[in-house]
Formats: sequence, C-alpha cells, structure tokens
Amino acid sequence: MSNALAFINQQPANGFASVAVNSSASIAGNEAKEKDVALAQIEFRNVTKNYGSVAAVKDLSLSVSRGEFLTILGPSGSGKTTTLMLLAGFQAPSQGDIFIAGKSVAAVPSYRRDQGIVFQSYALFPPLNVRRNLEFPLEMRGMKAAERTARVDRILSRVHLSGLEDRMPSQLSGGQQQRVALARALIADPPILLLDEPLGALDRNLREQMQSEIKSLHKEFGITTVCVTHDQDEALTLSDRIVVMRAGAIEQTDTPEAIYDRPATQFVAKFLGEANILENPGFMIESEATQPSDTIAMIRPERICVAALDAPKRVDADLRQSVIGIVENMIYAGPLRKYHVRVGSTLLVAREHVVSGRPALQPGEEVRLEWLRSDVRFVAA
Ligand SMILES: Nc1ncnc2c1ncn2[C@@H]1O[C@H](COP(=O)(O)OP(=O)(O)OP(=O)(O)O)[C@@H](O)[C@H]1O
Ligand SMILES: [Mg+2]
Repeated sequence: MSNALAFINQQPANGFASVAVNSSASIAGNEAKEKDVALAQIEFRNVTKNYGSVAAVKDLSLSVSRGEFLTILGPSGSGKTTTLMLLAGFQAPSQGDIFIAGKSVAAVPSYRRDQGIVFQSYALFPPLNVRRNLEFPLEMRGMKAAERTARVDRILSRVHLSGLEDRMPSQLSGGQQQRVALARALIADPPILLLDEPLGALDRNLREQMQSEIKSLHKEFGITTVCVTHDQDEALTLSDRIVVMRAGAIEQTDTPEAIYDRPATQFVAKFLGEANILENPGFMIESEATQPSDTIAMIRPERICVAALDAPKRVDADLRQSVIGIVENMIYAGPLRKYHVRVGSTLLVAREHVVSGRPALQPGEEVRLEWLRSDVRFVAA
C-alpha cells in the first residue's frame, strides 16, 4: 500500500515522460490517502550501483521525510537518474538497501514487489486520448467507470485542462502534455511522486509556469516528491531540500537557501550560480579573518557593490572590504547589469539591479568594489 510510486521519466528524443504507478495504491477516499501519506518515507542506506566498472551511485545515504519535496541536482552523468531508478525499482542496488515506509524494497525487483508498477516508455500513450490516458492507471486498479470519470474530471480541472479530454496527445502542446503526464502520475493518489527532468523539454516561460503548478500541487496534496534536475533555478524554486550529486556521491544536502548561500564546497558554489573565488585572501579579505585550512574564499556576484570612485562610501565602512578595480566590460541582461572588474590579477564578477538614475559604469572606468566581510564564504577547495 505504502510503496506506490508515480514516476515521470526524463525522456530523450520525444520529450514524453513515462509513468509507473503502483496498482495496489489506495484508490479509496481521502482517509485512506492520508494514511498512505503518513507512511510514506524514503531511506537510502549506503546504496551503491555499479554498471560494470562504472560506479553510477556510490555509498549513498539519504532520507526523505513524509511530504517533503526533495530535489536531486547535479551535472550530467552524476547519478541522478540512477538514484531515481533504484528508488522506483527499475534498477537494483549493487550494495546497500532502500527503505520505503520502513520496509526494505531494494532486494526485490520491481515486478515482484507488491506494487503492480505500470511502466511505459512514453508519458502518454499516443493512441489514447487524454481521458483514456488518465483512466489507465485507475483501470489497472479495477476502479469502476463512474468513479474513474469523476476522478479524471477532477484532476483535469485541477491542472487546467478541462475540455481537452478528447484530444490525442499529438494534438497537445508540450506544456499540455506535461500537465497530463503530471495529472496521470497523481491520479491514483500515490504517496510518493518521482520526477525526472519533468520540465526539460519546455521553454523558459512554460517551465516557470509549470514550476509553480508543481509547487502548488505539492502543497495541496502533500505528496512526498523526489525530483531530479540539472537546472539550478528549478531546484531552488521547488525544493524543501536539495541534494547536490557529483560523480555518484552526495556533495551536500541542505535547504535551497543554505545550499546557495553557504555552499560546503567549491563544486557546489559553482554549480549553483556564479561564484567569485578570492584568490589572494590577504589582500581581499580582512587580514585577521581566519580562513580554515583547505578552504578557499568565495563571494557571490550580487554581494559585491560596484560604485564610481567619487560615489559616497558606505557608512558601515568598518564592516566592509573595499578595493579599487577597472571595469573590463558590462553585460546588460534586462533588469540586471553584470560587470567584470579587474582587481590586480583577479577578475571579479559583480551583479547589480538596474536602478533609475544610476547610469551604467563604462569599460575602462576605475571603480570601487565593496562587500561585507560577512558575505565572504570559506568553502572546501
Ligand atoms: N544502463 C547503464 N549501463 C551502463 N552505464 C550506465 C547506465 N545507466 C547509466 N550509466 C552511467 O552511470 C552514470 C550515471 O548516469 P545517470 O543516468 O544516473 O546520470 P544523470 O545524473 O541522470 O545524468 P543526466 O543529467 O545526463 O541525465 C553515467 O556515467 C552513465 O554513463
Ligand atoms: Mg538523468
């Protein structure tokens, strides 16, 4: 009952996603669903997955709380999909164990688990219209026609697709197809939702729209969600916690804010946005600041203020570091300006919001860079 999984799979060529649902999941009312949700909880204990000589996942330990939205973020090949496949039961760990609601599921292949997983390589079955696509997981559970219809109508209205039930998948836009895929993953009330690059095929505006859709669905249903992405903004926007993976291992697990603002390592700092590495700490940082060994000093571009030399100094000067540099170039990006400023041998990036009445600084101009000393982070090299 508690092991129901809904799985939207990253799909390469066609942008479709695949769905697998546990046919034994609760199909009853909210009461049963609440019970399932209360049980849902995921734990990886020292899980390793080798593909021949490739260690795709290395000694991974991780737990996901009930109702949590956890995102696995990392570059291509870092083991994100493999981690999700292990959880879904489409791959078995080489070592270690996975627990869902306290019960080991790792040693049992997916088709032998008491889950009745339905797996298709496409999100939507092309020959079925929207309604039939959505009904399919319910039919697998033996739900009666009237209840199926009611459920499909409910979920379609929830994902703003009412009226499109007779369309074939090929007659829907990419965003609409993703909505149907999401609706289908949710329609049987699974306690766990797995998403692998669910928005990868969408353009920026649609992505943002779908992100807020996923976020509000998560809030509404309280469903334990594990999402895989290599998109930093998506991870920061959606997640309660982010796991950053690197070469099959966890580099850091933390809240979005902590992982962006207090990255543990240089890898995490650079993966989650731009990072200035302050290579000459004696010069760049307050001399008495103690830098732990084996760390480097880092500051985010938006923490550096750029000002003309004749601009008034900040009042809290004693808290600030102030250095003089020369603007090498300015990149205009709508509401933001990005400056590359040379300070000695170091090229620093500073980012500022465009403000009325403050003209852009020009290449070649001598400027003052200032930042709060407390904004400098020491990260593992
Ligand atoms: N079936 C397989 N056989 C052999 N090696 C595999 C297999 N699946 C994945 N790998 C390897 O395992 C590593 C992790 O792959 P995985 O698909 O988990 O990465 P990912 O983080 O999802 O990457 P992407 O962002 O590109 O989807 C890679 O080196 C990949 O080449
Ligand atoms: Mg992948």
